[in-house]
Amino acid sequence: MQSTLLPPGPRGRFLWGNLKDFQRGRLDFLTSCARDYGDVVGLRFGRHRVFALFHPDGIEETLVPHYQQFIKHYALRLNPLIFGKGLITSEGEFWLRQRRLIQPAFSRRQIASYAPVMVEATAAMLGRWQAGETRDIFPEMMQVTLAIAAKTLFDAEVETDAPEVGQALHLLQQNFQNRLNRLLPLPLWLPTFENLRLRRIIRGLDAIIYRFIAQRRKDGQDRGDLLSLLLRARDEDDGQGMTDQQVRDEAMTLFLAGHETTALVLAWTWWLLSQNPRVEEALAAEVKEALDGRLPTVDDLPRLSYTEKVVTESMRLYPPVWTIGRETTVDCTIGGFQVPRGTTLLMPQWVVHRDERFFSQPEAFLPERWTEEFTRRLPKFAYFPFGGGPRLCIGNNFALMELVLVLACITQRFRFTLQPGFDVKPWATFTLRPEKGVATLLTKRG
Ligand code: HEM
Repeated sequence: MQSTLLPPGPRGRFLWGNLKDFQRGRLDFLTSCARDYGDVVGLRFGRHRVFALFHPDGIEETLVPHYQQFIKHYALRLNPLIFGKGLITSEGEFWLRQRRLIQPAFSRRQIASYAPVMVEATAAMLGRWQAGETRDIFPEMMQVTLAIAAKTLFDAEVETDAPEVGQALHLLQQNFQNRLNRLLPLPLWLPTFENLRLRRIIRGLDAIIYRFIAQRRKDGQDRGDLLSLLLRARDEDDGQGMTDQQVRDEAMTLFLAGHETTALVLAWTWWLLSQNPRVEEALAAEVKEALDGRLPTVDDLPRLSYTEKVVTESMRLYPPVWTIGRETTVDCTIGGFQVPRGTTLLMPQWVVHRDERFFSQPEAFLPERWTEEFTRRLPKFAYFPFGGGPRLCIGNNFALMELVLVLACITQRFRFTLQPGFDVKPWATFTLRPEKGVATLLTKRG
């Protein structure tokens, strides 16, 4: 039976609806919506009808069995110049074909071959650090994950490009935020200051990616990196490869999606560890016992199970992708409510991961909670840092391995203490960033 009920929600203002309240503090606003109105909440952002889903069942319904009824949400489509028709933004048959072409690049065996790159890049960074220094750990983590992404994707060294890419990403997030905050985003073809700057940033990033592609086409070698796989990939049915533009879109997507998210998990983890000495000691003890001072390899991963729990719990509290968004392409029902075609659906990990129906002491950083028993009983979409269903993050295993290896490498050499008086606050833009970074004092582990 089709429901005709529309979900409850806070009253909005005339033109803006709930957009202003959302902009004032996205995380707090959505948290209060869940608290005050329940598992499905109706909102309006300007002319967009928005429903927020806060229960794992409604989220699963959307992402798994009926995923074909939804497309990525309008905010993601604000970025056509960046991702083009890459895997994150493409839809339908085209997306499916690309996903099939790219999936082998993320097979377990392929990913395992990247472990030495991850460890070497981290060791190189540690070689530059001195005990007693104060460093903002977020750009440090960005630099190391960028070096790893460049090497694994393009077999390239990007030490020299790192500041440029970091700055470009920051400006892109600002641009995205500004466009999202407008009642009517200005079309990208208008020569406004912001649009011109956006084009300049993308030209800079394109230049880096096209340089990698050109180098590879020139030497024609298969270097076992992702770019080789993209260039070599052929459709099973028609034997077609990808055009240069498509390789650019996929490479840019993987490059951007693949390093900032991972850097964010690491930055949030160091901050959480600096606030939770008991967890930090348990982590250091595991790493010492498993590695005894040597650098980790992929074979050490089974012995680093507490390290993995630390990462899991960190992504529960600070999921780098803090909400998933979709738009309905047909009228449908979710959680017993009618969802008209064109509605934007928000599924915020930030709120669901802190729901005390699923996590006792939801605000506490407790890696121990992730026992096999707990994981088995947890509803599947109570914890979904990598999304789920057919559009599950393609890099989830890559990211998990990278996180555990980098964390283990650093833990055996350094501890971090938050700079006194430094306030770490989450900034929910496209991803969940520490607003002013995480300034920490480095201490050598004895
Ligand atoms: C901790 C790190 C990461 C997190 C938290 C994360 C999170 C996510 C999430 C939530 C989605 C689903 C978005 C949606 O359904 O709308 C996604 C998709 C995606 N991620 Fe990740 N990701 C991470 C690392 C990576 C890495 C390392 C790569 C590649 C090297 C990557 C590449 C992608 C791609 C290409 C998609 C789109 C997949 C598709 O739609 O077929 N991600 N990611």
